[in-house]
Amino acid sequence: MAKILNFAHRGASAVCPENTMAAFRRSLALGATGIETDVQMTRDGQLVLIHDEELSRTTNGKGYVKDKTLEELRTLDAGAWFGDGSFKGEKIPRLEELLELLQDRDTILNIELKNGVFLYPGMEEKVIAAVRNYGLSSRVVISSFNHYSLARFKELAPDMETGILYMEGLYRPWEYAASVGARALHAYHWAVLPEWVRDAAQNGVVYHPFTVNDPKRMEFLIDAGVAGIITDVPDVLARLLERK
Ligand code: G3P
Ligand code: CA
Repeated sequence: MAKILNFAHRGASAVCPENTMAAFRRSLALGATGIETDVQMTRDGQLVLIHDEELSRTTNGKGYVKDKTLEELRTLDAGAWFGDGSFKGEKIPRLEELLELLQDRDTILNIELKNGVFLYPGMEEKVIAAVRNYGLSSRVVISSFNHYSLARFKELAPDMETGILYMEGLYRPWEYAASVGARALHAYHWAVLPEWVRDAAQNGVVYHPFTVNDPKRMEFLIDAGVAGIITDVPDVLARLLERK
């Protein structure tokens, strides 16, 4: 069986505060072979890793990422909210910190451009420059729900892979992916049927469904032939893949 990628969603987000360096490091220790993360942009044009546009769910700050400078964001705590408080002191990471962590590994990095709510002009160029700077062009998959941005990304960086994020209802999604220049379908996992996985593969397009935490569902998708799975529990998926 082909090697299936095990993407840790926002890092090991079941056991660590999401999108922190602690979560990324832990995911590698738990057997992840890929990491998924979310990138937003600060007022002064820096790329930071945080899922929400607004700060209050995962930090002790308030307001939008886009209205803060990097320096302001770095004063915030992104770990205290999680679990027993033992991650207090974790910061919102810059994209570069994660690129540095992965520089000498063979881990695949899935960077989700969170440019759907706010459009973050210039985000594509900045991500491309950062990835190139760390020599990781061949080890990234760039995904987004903003497919205009993905098409633009592919035009600017044809050497980097992209993945179409979607929830449901795309007709012949492998054809649509090709029209956007993408090789991967990052589909909500309930929008995946085995015959579609087969048809996509025959057209050179692979599935990386999200976010799959139930081992039975993982097994179903593996048997369907997906190329990777995005999960909050990479240890569960790693154990399952070992038995395959
Ligand atoms: O990339 C898959 C998944 O992360 C997309 O949804 O909201 O968790 O970023 P969300
Ligand atoms: Ca995401």
